[in-house]
Amino acid sequence: PETHERAPRGLDFTPVEVNTKDAVVVPEGYQQGVVIRWGDPLFPGVPEFDFDHQTAAAQEKQFGYNCDFAAILPLDALGLSGIMVTNHEYTTESFMFRSYDSANPTEEQVKIGWAAHGLSVFLVKRSMFSGHYRPRFSKYNRRITLNTPFEVRGPAAGSDLLKTSVDPTGKRVFGTINNCSGGVTPWGTILSGEENFNQYFANADGRNDPRLTRYGVKGTETTRKWERFDKRWDLAQEPNEVNRFGWIVEIDPHDPDSTPVKHTHLGRFKHETANVRIADDGRVVAYSGDDERFEYIYKFISKGKVKHGNSKAARRHNMTLLDDGTLYVGRFKGDSPVEEIDGTGKLPGDGKFDGTGEWVPLASGKRSFVPGMTAEEVYVFTRIAADKVGATKMDRPEDIETHPRTGTVYCALSNNVERGNEGKEGATEPNPRVQNRHGQVLEIVERRGDALALTFGWNLFLVCGDPKDPNTYFGGYDKSKVSPISSPDNVAFDRHGNLWISTDSAGALDGLNDGLYGVPLEGKERGHLKLFLTVPRGAETCGPVIGERVVTVCVQHPGEVDGASADNPASHWPDGGDSQPRPSVVAVWREGHRQLGEIG
Ligand code: FEO
Ligand code: CA
Ligand code: CA
Ligand code: CA
Repeated sequence: PETHERAPRGLDFTPVEVNTKDAVVVPEGYQQGVVIRWGDPLFPGVPEFDFDHQTAAAQEKQFGYNCDFAAILPLDALGLSGIMVTNHEYTTESFMFRSYDSANPTEEQVKIGWAAHGLSVFLVKRSMFSGHYRPRFSKYNRRITLNTPFEVRGPAAGSDLLKTSVDPTGKRVFGTINNCSGGVTPWGTILSGEENFNQYFANADGRNDPRLTRYGVKGTETTRKWERFDKRWDLAQEPNEVNRFGWIVEIDPHDPDSTPVKHTHLGRFKHETANVRIADDGRVVAYSGDDERFEYIYKFISKGKVKHGNSKAARRHNMTLLDDGTLYVGRFKGDSPVEEIDGTGKLPGDGKFDGTGEWVPLASGKRSFVPGMTAEEVYVFTRIAADKVGATKMDRPEDIETHPRTGTVYCALSNNVERGNEGKEGATEPNPRVQNRHGQVLEIVERRGDALALTFGWNLFLVCGDPKDPNTYFGGYDKSKVSPISSPDNVAFDRHGNLWISTDSAGALDGLNDGLYGVPLEGKERGHLKLFLTVPRGAETCGPVIGERVVTVCVQHPGEVDGASADNPASHWPDGGDSQPRPSVVAVWREGHRQLGEIG
């Protein structure tokens, strides 16, 4: 049939309809299964999850809350077994506990919160005939929580700005928080971004510190009230603890005894993620977005070169690559007259939102390139350094990743409802709409395709929204044939080179559920965006892993809609009946277990 002739490899499926169901919806001919749910035990002897009898001790050894990023590191050529790593971005106590008293959480509830953050590492296996990965107990299984020691590395390690009464060395931090997206490094470790760390620290108001304000650390009491049970969350008592979060962390899932690392050379901001590519000469490049309205896109180039091979020694060496090099921030320029970028999202005269840009150096090792700031200050207060060099304010830079074949860099710019508001910056060519609710997807082409280049070309591949809306753009493709999309968050690639995008806040499109989309990047089908799956009410789709035969996604915060709580759940996914919703990982595969999106 005609549709088969036209569908590019890997995308031959009938798109699912946008919907508001309390279910994961997959295309006809596809099956699904839950891989792991919040509370599922990761070690022998750990109690099964019991919503009404939770303990911190159990949560320390169970799958955490609100999984966001996920990766599967294959352990065999067929992908029948692998090490799965997921982040647990944040806790929502009113969904986790019945009759939760937000003014007076108990100590046990707070400690459950600490244990429900961080990451989970565990073995997954599936049979030859099914895509249904299931967790197994194994030597790899590990929970990283707010109680796990991390080593601080790079040029700001040991800085006075990182010292606390518990850690006078400024080199050892307990835990990681608000881990949003992440990346798999070419050497088989996991990077994870500490994102909205600001919300965990109390008593900023009394401190009158513009450096706190610049990071959105404000107020007196925090929502979770952790400061009542550990002084490290109280800025009045431990003013530097906040500087120990907001980093890129790296963990080695192959070695459960390894100490996770915080890499200060990548700067401190609300890291969505970091993703690494290898330059022709073996140096490595990491891209990272600061996910907040009007924040920046960063690039790091290492000094050292990658060591190939899978040995532990090679991984140990490669885990030092992000500790020395140069940190840059992106400055984007449009090539159309400013008056053509009028905030309505109408395409400019040259038919494209496009232009050029440069990577502006901020610091390299102990050397600062920012007037008035030491290198240590640049790393710890990176946002302020980027302000000073006139970096380009973007619409919430989320996931950023390099296409493995073309080298083009893809960045999801989620949305920015404040653009153009009073006192705020208006439209610019890379951020061409005011009150931007639906976001855009940016392509960056480094000069001559060189990963080490300090200049680049860029263009917007997608300007998201309802395709019926004239201010949307789908790579030039016929808009009557594409799926609506809002708020792109994570990006991934399949083995055919197609881009996959998961969304956070499709609700901006008439309350629709979030989803995962596939789209070709080349040829006549470029821009033909198709909705592959949707997640239940109130959930966000994240952490897509696109395999040859299996897609997995994290279903984060199912049922998180206004007015809902554990006493009044808005979703019963995945357990059904009148159960409480549980953030989970879900696997999707094709009936007959054929290759995904292939003809026949
Ligand atoms: Fe946690 Fe940037 O999404
Ligand atoms: Ca242009
Ligand atoms: Ca995200
Ligand atoms: Ca997001």
